[in-house]
Amino acid sequence: MSSDSHVACGQVEDNKVKVQNLQHVFNPRSVAVVGASAEPGKIGYQILNNIVQNGFKGKLYPINKKAREILGVPCFSSLLDVPGDIDFVVIAVPAPLVEGVLQECVKKNTKGTVIITSGFSEIGKTKEEQALKDIADKNNIALLGPNTFGFVYTPAHLNASFGPQNLAAGKIAFVSQSGALAISLMGWTMMEKIGLAAVVSLGNKADIGEKELIEYFNDDPNTSVILIYMEGIKDGRKFMTTQVKKPVVVLKSGSSSRGAQAAASHTGSLAGSDTIYTAAFNQLGMMRARNFTQAFCACSVLCMPMPKGNDAVIITNGGGIGVSATDECEHSGIKLLEDPVWLEEKFRCTMPEFGSTKNPIDVTGGGGCKSYREAVKIALNEARIHAVIVLYCETAVTDPVEVAKAIVEEYNTVKRNKPIVVTMVGGERSRTAIQILNENQIPAMTEVREAVSGLKTLYHWQEISSRPKEKAAVVLPPAQALELIERVRKEGRTYLLEHESREVLEACGVPMPKWGMAVTAEDAVREAETKKMYPVAMKIASVDIIHKSDVGGVILNIKNADEMRAAFARMMENVAKNAPKAKIMGVNLCQMVDGIQCIVGMNKDPQFGPAVMFGMGGIFVEVLKDVTFRVVPFAEQDAVRMIGEIKARKLLDGYRGQGAHKESIVKTLMAVQRIAPYVKEVDINPLFTNKDGSFAADARILL
Ligand code: COA
Repeated sequence: MSSDSHVACGQVEDNKVKVQNLQHVFNPRSVAVVGASAEPGKIGYQILNNIVQNGFKGKLYPINKKAREILGVPCFSSLLDVPGDIDFVVIAVPAPLVEGVLQECVKKNTKGTVIITSGFSEIGKTKEEQALKDIADKNNIALLGPNTFGFVYTPAHLNASFGPQNLAAGKIAFVSQSGALAISLMGWTMMEKIGLAAVVSLGNKADIGEKELIEYFNDDPNTSVILIYMEGIKDGRKFMTTQVKKPVVVLKSGSSSRGAQAAASHTGSLAGSDTIYTAAFNQLGMMRARNFTQAFCACSVLCMPMPKGNDAVIITNGGGIGVSATDECEHSGIKLLEDPVWLEEKFRCTMPEFGSTKNPIDVTGGGGCKSYREAVKIALNEARIHAVIVLYCETAVTDPVEVAKAIVEEYNTVKRNKPIVVTMVGGERSRTAIQILNENQIPAMTEVREAVSGLKTLYHWQEISSRPKEKAAVVLPPAQALELIERVRKEGRTYLLEHESREVLEACGVPMPKWGMAVTAEDAVREAETKKMYPVAMKIASVDIIHKSDVGGVILNIKNADEMRAAFARMMENVAKNAPKAKIMGVNLCQMVDGIQCIVGMNKDPQFGPAVMFGMGGIFVEVLKDVTFRVVPFAEQDAVRMIGEIKARKLLDGYRGQGAHKESIVKTLMAVQRIAPYVKEVDINPLFTNKDGSFAADARILL
């Protein structure tokens, strides 16, 4: 397949150089702060103070017109007075001055900048913001913001923000569209001792957005996991080109319609349809979290080594909490090791006689720190066990802090060889124990559910990262299909008639039942006989009739020539009576088909462009909304995954003699995406699927 037979679904900006230049933002040799102030109440002071207090090792230049030094650091009155180049500049001066400062950055060969200043596109000043973007583009400057609180990058001891001073160092890069939220979560992660490599506030995303940061952190050796908080994205098509090499967890707000409205009025961004966002995340191999605690738990677990198999064990001192973890595992599809004889042999020595080795391994409420240490040690050392879930309920006889320390020691002894997650339920001492575990990069939390769902995310990522890399490319539709569409457009019509829709879709590869067109009853009989079409469905073909059933323009299950003639006559009579002015072109004939009713459709999302839908058809579409989407272009493997994503997938796998013909569903989805860029909407409802194939029983295309 030659590359020029592919449809370019809109050109997207390639920011490769900008991504490279983010190196100068996060690991600069020299930093200037324009707007640095000696007044502690000012943002310019706070930023400089954070940089100084965090122990940044490179050159630091506060820029201030009046001061000679601030916080003991000598000042310059302008960027242009600083000797030599400056890698990275923080800009915190009032909005009207920002463009001038950026021009000065160009003269200093600056490769990266963060513009803290507010008062741009978020208040409608898009032209002013575009001017900044233009300068950045022309000079390959990676520009963060404007309207951001800055960022922190712990490996470089660089806190270029006016947020909290300290951050627990770790491997999670947190990229946030909301500045306030990022600031508050910095405090929370510090309290929980969850380590972060970076916190980046995106601000208005004039230049650097989620895509560039994900691609930068992909190759950052200090980052293991990327967490994105998103309200909406500016350019869905650009986002779809994001390369995902490390686990990306997305927390997207605005999933309810009210939430979407609130998000749209925030940061001036549009929150597109949430279903399409879910589709986009799935397609890119990003994982969605429901809330902050779940997101951070998942990220902490994603910093763990990958499991080498599916067998997990639960170690607990409480029966109830053990059962609830077992339930969660079952719901999440996490398999618990089942081999009672082997488990008894290995774990009996860790507990009193009345303990249980049945997985959950219950060392009982009386089981002390020694029991936990022994059980954890065995679980970590036995190669048959691939993941460990430790649960602890605070009791008077065991100190949770001691349990936590024992877990840390045993885990370090085996050199962090497999994933382990810990839940501790209790008071102050349990909280301290959780902090100790987190500080030692062992994910610990108070909720069983979060621990299990974190582990589930790790398995999910393992599955995503093992997927064959398949490039999504759409093959151009055949010329005859495009010509037909053009002809209809020239006639001034906004929709294709059924036979036209069938012709276009069939040419693209949508599997059709036998079908034809007839102008007279005898034509219809001949068509049905030569194509061996019986039983047949007959539908009126007219540009003036959209709702065919309403005018008696649909007759089903015509079994032979006599019935065909009678049906034709009846239909003409019905239509003459109910739609006397309609121009009749004849009738559509289509072989009757049966099977499971599915739906395949395509519509255009304002942010992501064409998106193809698959789901259960008929009444299920309206009642259950059991559908899933992919953004065009998508790979064949994505079409396969779509079938596995709907709730009724078991029915499609085969149930009571019914089952789907998955290859032809995939073929249909791939065919529909071929035509997607050229039309407004496609509707194949129903698409019948049975063991012999799939068949478009109806087809509609809107222009
Ligand atoms: N070169 C060097 N210094 C300059 C300068 C220039 N071109 N222009 C101004 N300055 C100095 C000022 O003299 C002042 O220093 P001083 O305190 O010693 O006098 C300092 O820079 C700051 O300027 P000032 O006019 O006092 O502004 P400010 O501190 O009141 O506000 C911002 C500046 C950027 C903080 C403000 O405009 C702003 O945007 N605030 C909102 C930021 C925000 O919330 N971001 C989003 C977070 S999510």
